[in-house]
Amino acid sequence: MQILYELEKVDVTGVRLFAPASIANISCGFDVLGLCLENIGDIMEIRRSNTAGIQITSIKGQDLPLEAEKNVAGVAGLALLAEYNPQLGFEIYIEKNIKPGSGIGSSAASAAGAVAGINYLLGSPFSTKELIPFAMEGERLACGSAHADNVAPALLGGFTLVRDTNPLDICALPTPLELVATVIHPKIEVKTADARAVLKTRVSLEKAISQWANVGALVSSLYEEDYELLSKSLVDGIVEPARSILIPYFNELKDACKKAGALGSGISGSGPSVFALSRGMTTANHVAQAMQAVLEKTEIPFDIHVSPVKQSGVSFLEDIT
Ligand code: HSE
Repeated sequence: MQILYELEKVDVTGVRLFAPASIANISCGFDVLGLCLENIGDIMEIRRSNTAGIQITSIKGQDLPLEAEKNVAGVAGLALLAEYNPQLGFEIYIEKNIKPGSGIGSSAASAAGAVAGINYLLGSPFSTKELIPFAMEGERLACGSAHADNVAPALLGGFTLVRDTNPLDICALPTPLELVATVIHPKIEVKTADARAVLKTRVSLEKAISQWANVGALVSSLYEEDYELLSKSLVDGIVEPARSILIPYFNELKDACKKAGALGSGISGSGPSVFALSRGMTTANHVAQAMQAVLEKTEIPFDIHVSPVKQSGVSFLEDIT
């Protein structure tokens, strides 16, 4: 815990916040790399309550469980309270704009928003990094695996790298400012647990060498703002080949991104969303048109988003008095 406490926001009943979507893996960095998105996310309101524990008051936009123990925001909030003070109580309202199972960190956004909001109202007894393990409990509920590659960027913003989960060690990485993400979400559901189940548990040394070379190069490219190196390192020889069969028109989407000038593309998190990274908004919009053209020829409905990388994580919009 931080030694210096901010004052608890006793004059404030609650807070309204934006909980951002995120792209995990970023091609070569399965379970370790992630980035935060600026234009896509949930709106949440966290309020103090006289009843101990977490109450999810309502969820707009999606049919998700309201019982705290079955809800990712509830579980993450309860994990924080178990550590800080189980006698305290909070209510959570969620406007769910990120569809669960879309591959852009829906569960991570709700979990991150819950712990960030509660921490804010408590006067920030935990640092942002210290909130990550609580939010990871939401991920454990959502897919059985407490991965941190969505919750870390959702809380910290920018690019993040999970060096280890036990004990947790997260590195915040720099964000080249011209980088813009395009994400297409084909409206079919791919459950993270299913997308993890198709993965092989053994990897050849040859593939491992290529993968860790690309992760290292990608990290270097962020520090150096080297878009060419970033482009070369957006390669995944391990997870993408296994998972791409779950995503209709995946190869066509990748080809379209390349032709439209993207630096690279791949599966967003566990899919089915496909992301591309481009240098500049103009190219990112061209990439969006190219991806859209692929799925417009099919029966598959889709959403498409173009978003810069968000430099900070959960944003507090206004205090509720
Ligand atoms: N790294 C996780 C996976 C992210 O790919 O399974 C899930 O969103």
